[in-house]
Amino acid sequence: MTADLLIVGSGFFGLTIADRCARELDLKVQVIDRRDHIGGNAYSEIDPETGIEVHRYGAHLFHTSNKRVWDYVNQFTDFTPYVHHVYTTYKDEVFPMPINLGTINQFQRAAYTPEEARAWVVEQAAMLEGEPTNLEEKAISLIGQPLYEAFIKGYTAKQWQTDPRELAAEIISRLPVRYTYDNRYFSDTYEGLPVDGYTAWLEKMADHPNITVTLDTDFFDESQPWNKADVVGQIPVVFTGPIDRYFDFKHGDLSWRTLDFESEVLPIGDFQGTPVMNYADESIDYTRIHEFRHFHPERDYPDDKTIIMREFSRFAEHTDEPYYPVNTPQDRERLLSYRELAKDEANVLFGGRLGTYQYLDMHMAIGAALSMYDNKLAPHFTNGLPLD
Ligand code: FDA
Repeated sequence: MTADLLIVGSGFFGLTIADRCARELDLKVQVIDRRDHIGGNAYSEIDPETGIEVHRYGAHLFHTSNKRVWDYVNQFTDFTPYVHHVYTTYKDEVFPMPINLGTINQFQRAAYTPEEARAWVVEQAAMLEGEPTNLEEKAISLIGQPLYEAFIKGYTAKQWQTDPRELAAEIISRLPVRYTYDNRYFSDTYEGLPVDGYTAWLEKMADHPNITVTLDTDFFDESQPWNKADVVGQIPVVFTGPIDRYFDFKHGDLSWRTLDFESEVLPIGDFQGTPVMNYADESIDYTRIHEFRHFHPERDYPDDKTIIMREFSRFAEHTDEPYYPVNTPQDRERLLSYRELAKDEANVLFGGRLGTYQYLDMHMAIGAALSMYDNKLAPHFTNGLPLD
């Protein structure tokens, strides 16, 4: 074995660790991934039929207010000035999202001022009596019945494949309503898309003589190199795969939602005029449609074809890609048991969205990896401090 450190997973978390350890500490870093490509869920590829960049695992928009993360990522890529906006179709009408003054006035066929709109929402929300006992009641207590029925009910039922009355109230703590016409989706200081695409950015992070990336290699497959049985105890490991899988599901599965994507190339230049259209009606199976050409209006894409991707949401089975943690009370209990086991796993650090069972945006995964490097890996490799 000729590496100082093994990183399991080549997503943003793993590659940030690889970059820092190779470039700052001059360590020899081995990265493995069980997929046949680098980059984890942020991976993108060019659709061969249209030449349009497609995000294989769902639309990825970069945004952050963390200056350190922004400066860090700008070493590897420039960003376009893209600013994300989302619309939603409800009963054959298109509304701006997140719910804002424009949404409310269109919905009510009104010209409310911010104060009038706020008063209307407060009045609707006050109609719920008593403490909310499920997601539906919680949502109504926050934004009132009419907006809930239109924009939250069907979409949530499709996301969870469950009637919102059977979902826990705690799933939502707030439903933001803006009393201005600002329908910018994110309110972070920095936002944009990588000029040459996500994969070029991710490859640049890994492009260093001290970093070796080996694909199609599963850490749990003992017939392959760099497997758990051979490596743990020999060199330090940063593990960014699922924490329950690492411990052989000893305390049970952590539950996830997954997504199914259906892509279609259409013989038209523009399908929906915007990158993401949500579908709020429960009668429509999919939750949203992505049209990738709109992420890069600056590119010279064909004007006679376009590629769209319909997104469907459901609970994940054992073999599905885990996307969003469900986070039931049972999951939280199991996670605590796995964290206890992780503490005793000498020289193995758990990170990233799968290794910590948390939804992390890209900037959060990168920020968390920079912290792990600062607080654990750099002190260990430079001063010999223990890793755990
Ligand atoms: P990530 O999942 O990317 O990487 C983990 C890697 O580990 C994978 O490549 C996997 O194959 C590998 N692995 C797992 N088990 C292994 C094993 N046994 N052996 C070897 N390799 C193994 N964020 C954002 O900022 N803006 C956005 O718009 C979106 N959009 C978005 C849409 C959807 C549908 C999802 C699910 C997520 C987003 N995200 C996002 C979040 C973003 O995808 C996330 O921040 C990063 O993927 C986190 O990077 P990680 O490295 O933690 O995990």
